[in-house]
Amino acid sequence: MAQSEYVFQRVEDQRELERLRMIEQVFDPASRRRLLGTGLQSGWRCLEVGPGAGSIMTWMGEVVGPTGQVVAVDLDPKFLGESGQSNVEIVRADIRTAQLPEQSFDLVHARYVLIHIPDYEAALNRMLDCLKPGGWLVLEEPDFSESHGITGSEGQLKAVQKVNDAIKCMYERLGMNYALGRNMSGLLQSRGLQSMTMENDGPPSAGGSGMATIMKMSAVQLREKYLATGMVSDEDLEQYCRFADNPQSSAVYYTTIGVSGRKVS
Ligand SMILES: C[S@@+](CC[C@H](N)C(=O)[O-])C[C@H]1O[C@@H](n2cnc3c(N)ncnc32)[C@H](O)[C@@H]1O
Repeated sequence: MAQSEYVFQRVEDQRELERLRMIEQVFDPASRRRLLGTGLQSGWRCLEVGPGAGSIMTWMGEVVGPTGQVVAVDLDPKFLGESGQSNVEIVRADIRTAQLPEQSFDLVHARYVLIHIPDYEAALNRMLDCLKPGGWLVLEEPDFSESHGITGSEGQLKAVQKVNDAIKCMYERLGMNYALGRNMSGLLQSRGLQSMTMENDGPPSAGGSGMATIMKMSAVQLREKYLATGMVSDEDLEQYCRFADNPQSSAVYYTTIGVSGRKVS
């Protein structure tokens, strides 16, 4: 199995926690809606893969209540502490090799996790093994092939294009698929999942919005990795950050593809 390094593993903790909290603020409403769309309810057993700062894990614990259970598996659960919920168990493990009971979960969810795993099919297989027949898989992954600046000065739009190219290059060199989101429905279909739904969330975002702020935070945290691609300069990154702060600017930073499907047997 390929050894993979999570790109945000070595970044500064406080900044990373702020970035994860911003992701939760922007994307939790759509994730919760998708998860409730499966019928998620009291008494279900759920697996949350890569919970990050843990808001979906905590919320799922509240929804399933004392008769249900949530298991949260993260390579590095440093932002989770003690969950404080008796029905939530936190496991430090790589999802590809995690010791989890087979066919035991009603729902398995991951958001922005598979994109960080070069052999994401191994992770997907593990998730499917854990799912009960009739259980639901909900995956939400980005597609960076859709990234483009829309409004801004010519110089800023050029810098945005270069940073977008650097992001794609970084993922590619790490063996990761920067357009993974668009493969999700095909992957679920090939595994025989039924009752599938697919949504594409990729609206243009103004500078200063939550989405623009997340991408600016990523550019600050991953500055060295973006520079190492040789496709951007410090000046490009500064322009990108100013663009992301400017309410007059707009861009599609990436799209999120959310898919859900039901395991038949
Ligand atoms: C970008 S964060 C997303 C956090 C959260 N799902 C969210 O959307 O708010 C990715 C998370 O996946 C975890 N992760 C990355 N690779 C993993 C793996 N192979 N197994 C388990 N967790 C992993 C990271 O530690 C991190 O917490």
